[in-house]
Amino acid sequence: MTSKKSKVPSLNTVLSPSLLKLYDISNSTVVIIDILRATSTIAAALYNGAKAVIPVDSVADCIKLGKQMEVITAGERDGKIAEGLQYGNTPLQYTADFIKGKTLVLTTTNGTKLLHVALAANAKGIFTGSFCNISSVCDYLVDQKTNVILACAAWKNRINIEDTLFAGAVMNRIKENFDINCDASQIAETLYLQAKGDLLGFMQEKNASHYHRLMNFGLEKDIEFCLTEDNANILTLYSGGRLIAG
Ligand code: MLT
Repeated sequence: MTSKKSKVPSLNTVLSPSLLKLYDISNSTVVIIDILRATSTIAAALYNGAKAVIPVDSVADCIKLGKQMEVITAGERDGKIAEGLQYGNTPLQYTADFIKGKTLVLTTTNGTKLLHVALAANAKGIFTGSFCNISSVCDYLVDQKTNVILACAAWKNRINIEDTLFAGAVMNRIKENFDINCDASQIAETLYLQAKGDLLGFMQEKNASHYHRLMNFGLEKDIEFCLTEDNANILTLYSGGRLIAG
């Protein structure tokens, strides 16, 4: 006889890409989280009508694919537009006027790289999550009823505050629907509950490293956009080599 509990899917949080190898993700949906800024940019582009976002893990592949497909190339390394690409990783760039009906090939320091790691590790399903589409993410996870890995892109494998906060926000919204035996999820939720009244102020107060990096590039508006709930509330699903609106 199967117990009721065994039917409840699990939810785990992975705070750094370097920890993903500790999990068998072949029976899980993996949510790729890169709040500043890759998964926020992906949400903005698809919400504003992009046909697809093709995530690639190297600048060279991005340039090559962009030429082959005659589509827009975009991305960054260390927060700055990477040499040879047409556009950067700012969500505010991808307005409907600019991106509607177009395909974007995107490469970023951590976010698109992690997506490829999850792909190589045979994730059962992959999609991206950000505060910009948090309600769609949570609704989908609850409806799907499969095991979930909240995978934080972090910064070059070092845990960061913003991705942890998002994992905590998701955990806080949907935990009743999952079997949770994961200290990282508890840590993330505890941090989120402390910060939720003022995410931007919290990032500032805690000297969040990528917050400072982006502030030094004059990208405060990007940060504000990326910390706003549901301003691009659409599902961003990976299927057949591309991210598309669900
Ligand atoms: C990343 O992939 O780490 C980011 O999206 C970096 C950024 O553009 O802010």
